Amino acid sequence: NSAFEEALEALRAGDPVLVHDAADREGETDLIYHADAVTPDAVARMRNDAGGLICAALDHETAEAFDLPFLTEELDHPAASDHDLGYDERSSFSLTVNHRDTYTGVTDKDRSRTIQALGEAATSPTDVTFAEEFRVPGHVHLLKAAPELLAQREGHTELGIALAKAADLSPAVVVCEMLDGETGEERSPVDARAYARRHGFTYLEGKDVLANLS
Ligand code: 5RP
Ligand code: CA
Ligand code: ZN
Ligand code: ZN
Repeated sequence: NSAFEEALEALRAGDPVLVHDAADREGETDLIYHADAVTPDAVARMRNDAGGLICAALDHETAEAFDLPFLTEELDHPAASDHDLGYDERSSFSLTVNHRDTYTGVTDKDRSRTIQALGEAATSPTDVTFAEEFRVPGHVHLLKAAPELLAQREGHTELGIALAKAADLSPAVVVCEMLDGETGEERSPVDARAYARRHGFTYLEGKDVLANLS
């Protein structure tokens, strides 16, 4: 079985996969789960073993159905007018959310609640009144995929959603950057691979995803 096939199997089984985008992009490896699989223990793993920002990505159509904008298009603030990212044309950030059944929203239990509810909502977006179920701002960063997905942008947002779709899962994943616990820098691909091997997780390069989907 190819690493790509293994990644689809892992996501279906509720296990995380590691995806390194590209050396000439962020050069980051994200720990990625399907949203349905994000238990409080999974949130704890992202905090402790990954250490980056815990974000829930939705595909473009689902985000649109929930009326979720790209943050850069919504904010009328000078700091948001020029998004000069070094690695891409624009950020995929949308709003931040908490499920309404959470208290502060930040605990492992609360973030798990929010993320699993997003996974559930993404199975049938038109049956959901987003504002009845979620409040903004919150403690889970939403990411909105590009309309043409990987044809338009090759970020972890699009890579993660493309994997969920290829696995026949609802288009909602959670991504979190793997940082080095000592230096605070991104984990090198060698390091991220070693972590994956130690835990029996699948490691993929963005180009492996692209090659299998085109
Ligand atoms: C949010 C980020 C991450 O890099 C995340 O992977 C989403 O961004 P992108 O789609 O640009 O890779 O910055 O923590
Ligand atoms: Ca802007
Ligand atoms: Zn990324
Ligand atoms: Zn990043």
